[in-house]
Amino acid sequence: MPSARFPDLDGASVLITGGGSGIGAGFVEGFARQGARVAFFDIAEGPSRELCRKIEAEGFPAPLFVPVDLRDVEALRAGVTRAAQAHGPITVLVNNAALDDRHAVADVTPEYWDNNQNINLRPHFFSAQAVAPGMKAVGGGSIINITSTSWLINHPDLSSYTAAKAGIVGLTKGLAGELGPDNIRVNAVAPGWVLTERQKALWVTEERVAAHVARQSIKRPMEVEDIVGTVLFLASDASRMLSAQLLIVDGGYL
Ligand SMILES: NC(=O)c1ccc[n+]([C@@H]2O[C@H](COP(=O)([O-])OP(=O)(O)OC[C@H]3O[C@@H](n4cnc5c(N)ncnc54)[C@H](O)[C@@H]3O)[C@@H](O)[C@H]2O)c1
Repeated sequence: MPSARFPDLDGASVLITGGGSGIGAGFVEGFARQGARVAFFDIAEGPSRELCRKIEAEGFPAPLFVPVDLRDVEALRAGVTRAAQAHGPITVLVNNAALDDRHAVADVTPEYWDNNQNINLRPHFFSAQAVAPGMKAVGGGSIINITSTSWLINHPDLSSYTAAKAGIVGLTKGLAGELGPDNIRVNAVAPGWVLTERQKALWVTEERVAAHVARQSIKRPMEVEDIVGTVLFLASDASRMLSAQLLIVDGGYL
């Protein structure tokens, strides 16, 4: 985890979507280590509860796991209410959850497309909509939308996903313009290839990693921890005039 400390995150009410595993679990742990009061949504109950136990056992504030399927907008809204009741109005929202199942163009049905967008793009809008009034009431907040470099590198087998990920950048700009007068900052972070457990199980091979790292300026594979510091910085008042931006964290691949 990053060694930097952001004292204004101590006690902050933070909500992370898809925090049960992968990069999202890194965000949950990273914010908990700053002393933040962290709530997170996920559908993977086992890993989520295990993550809460691990963080508490390490002596940091126990996160609040709220089981929410982000495809259900009413459940998302109820989850935001529950998190705010437990920890106070949410001042940091990290829209992280995604589904990166591969899909060849020929195989995509309207149902597949809608399900994909309802995970990869729609919740980002509705969670921002749900937290904005609370942020406004306490004088501001920071919304961080996790996109991906996949839409910038013409990645095959992911066209619905890459459409959503590019859409997240447009959404970020639109939200930043509308919510900025209430001192709510909205930014996007695009990770390059991060070797999560899911990536290792499904797509990592020695050859693919070597080819990818060869194109990066920094010659080592990216781990979950490599994304956490950027998000902590964007959440903190260290970045208080930084809004409507896309930060690419890819080891210098692009
Ligand atoms: N891993 C990478 O190489 C990489 C690269 C670029 C961008 N990203 C982005 O980073 C973010 C995290 O990626 P990751 O690799 O950790 O993903 P992941 O698939 O490993 O984890 C996603 C989490 O979201 C949860 N989730 C999925 N559908 C959900 C739903 N309907 N409701 C609630 N929770 C749901 C999953 O259970 C899981 O815990 C994503 O936005 C992804 O697009 C990842």
